[in-house]
Amino acid sequence: MQDLKNHITKLREDFTKGTLSESDVNKNPDIQFEKWLQQAVDSKVDEVQAMTLCTVSQEGKPSSRIVYLREFQNNSYFFYTNYNSKKAKQLLKNPNASISFFWPQLERQIIIEGTVEKGTAEQADAYYNNRPYDSKVGTWASNQSQKLVSRNELENKVEEIKKQFSPESIKRPDFWGGFVLKANYYEFWQGRKSRLHDRICYETINNEWIINRIAP
Ligand SMILES: Cc1cc2nc3c(=O)[nH]c(=O)nc-3n(C[C@H](O)[C@H](O)[C@H](O)COP(=O)(O)O)c2cc1C
Repeated sequence: MQDLKNHITKLREDFTKGTLSESDVNKNPDIQFEKWLQQAVDSKVDEVQAMTLCTVSQEGKPSSRIVYLREFQNNSYFFYTNYNSKKAKQLLKNPNASISFFWPQLERQIIIEGTVEKGTAEQADAYYNNRPYDSKVGTWASNQSQKLVSRNELENKVEEIKKQFSPESIKRPDFWGGFVLKANYYEFWQGRKSRLHDRICYETINNEWIINRIAP
C-alpha cells in the first residue's frame, strides 16, 4: 500500500509530443475539435469517443461519469442515455454541463462547456434501431441509476424482456434517448515539458468565437 502511495506521489510524466499556439488553431472550435478527433482516431487512441460528462444538480451538487460521444455538428455534441438516470434528472433540471476528453497517446485534453437539450425522438429512434439486439434489450432491462437487490434481478429482467420482444419487434423505450450539448466554451490542452502546457480557449461573445491563451 505504501509502495503504491509512493508510486503515485512520485509519478512525473513530462509531456513532449506536441505544441499548440493561437495561430495553429482553427477560428471555429468545432473544426478544431474535428481535427484533433481525427488525429486521435489516426493515432488509435483507445476509447477515443469516451468523454467525462459533468452535470450539476439543482442544488449545485456536481457529479460526473463517462459516456460516449455519438455525433457532433455545428458546435453541438450528442450522447444517449436513460432519461430516468441520475445524469438525465440533473440535466432536465439544470442544463449546464461539461464534457471532457483525455487522449494520453497525444498528450491532449479537450474540455467543452455548454447547455444541454433533449434530442429529438427521430434521432433517438435512428440511433437505437442500429444497435445490436442485446444492447436494445439492456436498455429496456436497466432502470439506470436505481438500486438493485442483486445481479440476478437484472439478469432475470433481461430474460423477461427477451421473451417480451423479438429482434424484429423491439422498439426504443420512451425513457431512453439523446441529449445534445450546445457548446459555449472550449479548451484545447496540449501537454508540454515541465508542466508549462499550452491551453487555448474559445468563448462566445456577440456570436463570435474569441480565442485566448490561458496559463497552465
Ligand atoms: C467507456 C464507457 C462508455 C459509456 N457510455 C455510456 C453512454 O453512452 N451512455 C450511458 O448512459 N452510459 C454510459 N456509460 C455508463 C456511465 O458511465 C454511467 O455508469 C451510467 O450512465 C449511469 O450514470 P448516472 O447514474 O450518473 O446517470 C459508459 C461507461 C463507460 C466506462
